Amino acid sequence: MVGFPSILEGIKDLKKGHILQLLERAEDLKSGSPARLPLQKSLAVATSFLEHSTRTKHSFAMAIKRLQGFHIDFQAENSSLKKGESLEQTLLTLHYQGIDICIIRTKQSHLLDEFKEHPPIKIINGGDGSNQHPTQALLDLYTLSEQFGGVESLKGKTVAIVGDCRHSRVTHSLMDLLPQFGINVILSGPKEFIPQNIEDETNKFQVSNDIDETIKMSDALYLLRIQSERHTKGFEDTLTSYKDSWGIDFEKLRKNEKSLPIYHPGPANIGVEVSQEIVDSEIWMAHEQVRNSVYMRMAIIEAMITNEDQKIGSIYNKVPGDICAGNSRLNTK
Ligand code: NCD
Repeated sequence: MVGFPSILEGIKDLKKGHILQLLERAEDLKSGSPARLPLQKSLAVATSFLEHSTRTKHSFAMAIKRLQGFHIDFQAENSSLKKGESLEQTLLTLHYQGIDICIIRTKQSHLLDEFKEHPPIKIINGGDGSNQHPTQALLDLYTLSEQFGGVESLKGKTVAIVGDCRHSRVTHSLMDLLPQFGINVILSGPKEFIPQNIEDETNKFQVSNDIDETIKMSDALYLLRIQSERHTKGFEDTLTSYKDSWGIDFEKLRKNEKSLPIYHPGPANIGVEVSQEIVDSEIWMAHEQVRNSVYMRMAIIEAMITNEDQKIGSIYNKVPGDICAGNSRLNTK
C-alpha cells in the first residue's frame, strides 16, 4: 500500500485513507479474496513476543499461514539477546536472513521509537507496555463497523470503554482511532482508572465514573481486564467490589433498560468485569473480534509488504560520511 509505514507503532502512524483501505481489504479477505503479495518473493514473518499472549500471537500466525507465508516464532529467551546483543542488531540479523516483518510485543512502552528513523526491519507493534496496540484497535473498528452496518454508520454512535483505561494500551489506540470516524468515546471507570491529564482532552472524550450513566449513554460497551501487571501501586478496590460496581451483567443492563453489544479484547476475567451469562449470550462480541482479527492482520501484513520501502536495514546510513568516503561499497547513501 503506497505510503504505508514500515513501523506500525501506533494508530497515529496511519493516515485515515490507510485505515479505510485496511477495513475494505479485511472485508475482502473475509469474503475469500486471495492474498495480494508480490509474486517474486515468498512472505517470511517473525513474531517476537516478550510478554504473554494468546490471541495476538496466534492470530498473526494464522494470518501469515493464510497469506501462504512462513512464520518464525523468535524466542527471545533462547536468543543472543541473552548474550548481550542489542534488539537492533537482532532485528537486523532477522532482516538479512530474509525475514520481511517482525511483530514485537514488549512490556516496555515506546520501545520501538528508536527504530523509526532507521528501521532495521519492518515492524508491527503487537502491544508495548501501556502505550499502544494498534492492530487490536483496528480489528475492533472493523468488528464495530460490521456490526453497525459499515464505518459510515458508526458516525455519532457512542462507545464506552469501561474499566482500567489508564493502563490499557488498547484504550490508548482506540482513543486515537475511534474519534476519526465520528464515534463518541466515553472513558468509564473508577477515578484511578481514568487516564491522567484527560482534562486537556475533554472536548474529545467524555469521562464517567458512574456505570448506570455510562450504560444509558452508550450504543456499545468495550470492557477491559484490570491490568494489574502494570499497576505501580496495588489496586485499592477488591475484585468483589469492582464486580459489584463495574462488572457488566444482565441485571445492570435491565435496570437501565438497555441491550447493547459487549466487546472485549480478551483475556476476560469472567466473574469480574463481565458475567458468565453475558459471555454465553449473543450480545458478547469477543468471539467475533477474535475471528476478525485474522483478516485485519492479513490486511495489515499485506499493506506493509507492498509499501516498497527501500530504507530497511540500511545501517550504513548511520555511518558518518567521511568514514565511508572513497569506499563505494559502504557509501550507499
Ligand atoms: C490485550 C493486550 O494484550 O493488551 N489483549 C490482547 O492483545 N488481545 C488486553 C489485555 O491484556 O487485557
